[in-house]
Amino acid sequence: MSREKILIIDFGSQYNQLIARKIRELNVFCEIVPPNISADTIKPSEIKGIIFSGGPASVYAPKAPHCDARILSMGIPVLGICYGMQLMAKMLGGKVEKARHREYGRAPFTVTNRGLLFKDVPKTTISWMSHGDKVKRMPKGFVRIGRSGNTPIAAFADFNRKLYGVQFHPEVAHTICGKIILRNFVKEICRCRGDWSMRSFIQETVRDIRKRVGRSDKVILGLSGGVDSSVAAVLIHKAIGRRLACIFVDNGLLRKNEARLVREIFQKHFKINLHCVDASDKFLKALKGITDPEKKRKVIGRTFIKVFEQEAKKLGNVRFLAQGTLYPDLIESRSAFGGPSATIKTHHNVGGLPKRMNLKLIEPLKYLFKDEVRCVGRELQIPKEILGRHPFPGPGLAVRIIGDVTRQRCDILREVDDRFISILKKERLYDKIWQAFAVLLPIKSVGVMGDERTYENVVAIRAVTSVDGMTADWAKIPYNVLGKISNRIINEVRGVNRVAYDISSKPPSTIEWE
Ligand code: XMP
Repeated sequence: MSREKILIIDFGSQYNQLIARKIRELNVFCEIVPPNISADTIKPSEIKGIIFSGGPASVYAPKAPHCDARILSMGIPVLGICYGMQLMAKMLGGKVEKARHREYGRAPFTVTNRGLLFKDVPKTTISWMSHGDKVKRMPKGFVRIGRSGNTPIAAFADFNRKLYGVQFHPEVAHTICGKIILRNFVKEICRCRGDWSMRSFIQETVRDIRKRVGRSDKVILGLSGGVDSSVAAVLIHKAIGRRLACIFVDNGLLRKNEARLVREIFQKHFKINLHCVDASDKFLKALKGITDPEKKRKVIGRTFIKVFEQEAKKLGNVRFLAQGTLYPDLIESRSAFGGPSATIKTHHNVGGLPKRMNLKLIEPLKYLFKDEVRCVGRELQIPKEILGRHPFPGPGLAVRIIGDVTRQRCDILREVDDRFISILKKERLYDKIWQAFAVLLPIKSVGVMGDERTYENVVAIRAVTSVDGMTADWAKIPYNVLGKISNRIINEVRGVNRVAYDISSKPPSTIEWE
C-alpha cells in the first residue's frame, strides 16, 4: 500500500498502542515494528517519520534492544520517547546515566527552545515521566529544548537532522500538551498530510484484495456474526463479490435467532454468497457428557474445523482463507525485543485451518483497532445490530451452561438470554454495558407458582462494564430494572424459578463463568 506512514519502533513500552492510537487520530497511518527492522526496508518516500518508543531496559544493559544505526541518517525525522531518547543519545555518541532521583508520574516541564516540536506549547506545562536513566551529555549537533525538575536535559533536538527526543511520554493523557507535541512532530516536522481515513482505508484495501486474489480464485471466510468477521466479509465482498464464500456454522450454541439474523443481513441485504450449515447435532453429540470447560472448548474447536473443512471442500478452487484478525492481536502475539514470534494468535476457531488446507491468509483488518473496525463497518453500512453487539465467545452457550450441555438446556438459556437482552435494550442500557448474558446453573431450587410447589432451574445474569475485556466491573443496573428482568424471565421461561445477579468483578473473577 503506498500511503504516508509513521513507523513506531517497539522497544517494549507498555504505551506503544497509545502512541499508535494518537497518531491514527491525526489521520496518519502508523505501524508498530520490532527493533530488528532493517534500514534497507524503510522507503523514505513512504515513511514520513519514525518514533523510537519507550522501554523498560537501560541502554547500557547487555540485552538492551537496539536498532539499525543507519535509521538515524536517512533524512527521515525521528522522535525518541524516554528509552527512545536515551538510545538515540547513546547511538550518536552522547552519554546516558542512572538518574539519582528517578522521576515517576507528573513532573513540571519547561520549554527552553520552542522550535517546531513545542509550537503552541506553553513555556511551563505538566509532563508525565517514568524513567530511571537520563541523558547526561547530548550528542554533537544537539541542543537542549526542555528541562524538568530533576532532569536538566528533558528534551533535545538536532534541528538540521530533524532528530528529537523527549524524556517524558507525550502519548499518555497526563502529559497535558502531549497531543499537541505529537501533532507537531507528525504534521509540522514530518509534514504528513493527514489524509488517512476509513474511507481511504476501504478504497486501498479493496484495491489490494483484488490484486492479491486475482481474477478467478476464491476466498472463504468463517462468518460468526460478530463485528470483526462481519466487517471483513463485507469488505472482501466489495472487492471480489461472489468469489467470497462465507460459511456460517450453526453449532446449536448460538443466541436466539442468531442464524436468522446473519442470513437476513448478509444474504438478503448484502447479497453475500453465504453457506449456512446446521451442524448443531454434530456439536451437541460431541459435547455429550463433557462438563470440563477446557474440554468443551477443545471439542468445539475440533468439531468446527471438521465442519468448516467439509463445507470448504464442496466449494472447490479455494486458495485463500480470510480472517478478522485485529491489530492488538498481532501486537500482543509478538515479543517486544525479538520481533514477530512464531505463532500469531489464532481467531474464531479457525487457527489450524490455513496450514491444514494449504490456504493463504487474508487479514484485511490486521492493522486496525476495534473502534476503527466499527468505523469501517459504519462506512460499509453494516447495520448497528451487528456493529454494536456485545462480544460473544466462540464456544457460545456451552461455556454458559455449567455442567452438561444438552439441546434442552441450550433452549432454556436462549430464552432467558433473549428476555434479559431485550429489557436492557428497551431500558437503553445495552449500549452502556460492555457485555451481558445469562448463565444456566447446574442446580435446582424450590419455588411456588400459582400455589404449586416448583423445583426448577436457577439462572445467573451477568452484565459488566469494561474497555477491553481484560478487566471488568459488574454493571450497576438499577434495582427496578433488575426486578423487571427477574419477573420477565421467571414468568416467561418455562423451567426457571429463580434469578441471581452476579456482582463479581474481573479480577478476581472472569467475565464468563467457564
Ligand atoms: P473472560 O471470561 O476470560 O472473558 O474474562 C473475556 C472475554 O473473552 C470472551 N471469551 C472467549 N471468546 N473464545 C472466544 O472467542 C473463548 O473461548 C472465550 N472465552 C471467553 C468473553 O466472552 C469475554 O468477552
